[in-house]
Amino acid sequence: MLHGEAGVAESVALLRAGEVVGMPTETVYGLAADAFQPLALARIFEAKERPLSDPLIIHIPEVGWLDRVALSDDSVDRNLVERLAAGFWPGPLTILLPKHPNLPDLVTAGSEWVAVRVTSHPLFQEVMRQLGSPIAAPSANRFGRISPTTAEDVRMELGETIAGILDGGPSSHGMESTILTVREGRMEILRPGPITEDQLKEFGHVIRRECLVNTPGSLPGHYAPGKELQIIKKDINELKVPANSGVISFKGMDLGIDQLFARVEVLSPSGDLREAASNFYGALRRLDQSEVDMIFSESLPEEGIGVAIMDRLRRAEYGSKKGSGHQGDRC
Ligand code: TXA
Ligand code: MG
Repeated sequence: MLHGEAGVAESVALLRAGEVVGMPTETVYGLAADAFQPLALARIFEAKERPLSDPLIIHIPEVGWLDRVALSDDSVDRNLVERLAAGFWPGPLTILLPKHPNLPDLVTAGSEWVAVRVTSHPLFQEVMRQLGSPIAAPSANRFGRISPTTAEDVRMELGETIAGILDGGPSSHGMESTILTVREGRMEILRPGPITEDQLKEFGHVIRRECLVNTPGSLPGHYAPGKELQIIKKDINELKVPANSGVISFKGMDLGIDQLFARVEVLSPSGDLREAASNFYGALRRLDQSEVDMIFSESLPEEGIGVAIMDRLRRAEYGSKKGSGHQGDRC
């Protein structure tokens, strides 16, 4: 586990040598490699057991680095991209842009479009500045599993297979970035995240892709725990809860009902969806690692970042039912 300034220097040395390093971002922890070293990129796929067809997000420390990884041509609405960059970068927004030809094809799985974001995490930014190169980083979990929001989560997911983990404290958002395309003057949300539809609407017309064919996080079985997960859809009083079950609760449950469960994870006692998002993966992971046999979850309001939480919850439910590692059918 690497810490502080010395940890930054060690991470830079490892990345320069073509190793992969677990690194903190404001959304979730990423598994980082130098974006311009194809062999290092291949190590990401190997460590995560991720198919090569699934492209990687490129991180840069400031918007001035954009022209190293993306082209500025007429296939995107440049004015809109500039306004979004000014509004949300650094931060949890990823934009698909025309790929720079120098960027290895492995990053985009052969696509002409590269996903880019400016992370706000100071340690991640510092590593990129010292390395002098953009960093490719997917979430630092094994493919299809629960995303890590602490350095310890990364150690448990991938510890044996990676060269180092830089500890930057818990990720503040706890949920992966919002991913957007910006074409013909409109934005399309490919993956809901901390930057919400309402925030984006201030910048123009927004569409949300309902059927996630070939889009980020599109595989229904993503973010899955090893245990069966069931979203509570009917009145909880009618629900048959097997003995030794756990539950994810939004604000906490009424006395009596909580006694149906061996473990209760409350996401936000005050009912704050942002707080709930930041606690979501940790709660899922703790229940997955606990002695409970099955996990239930309340539904959360689908507004603001609640859209992203419910997106992850549904995929996790689907993935858990299909058994570990199954990625489900594309819709
Ligand atoms: O917040 C985040 O976005 C985190 C942190 C580490 O930055 N990263 C992350 O990466 O969530 P990952 O790989 O776990 O999820 C990125 C998603 C994947 O589903 C991938 O298929 C999609 O984005 N993606 C990446 N590049 C793409 C591209 N060029 N075209 C279409 N989809 C892309
Ligand atoms: Mg991921």
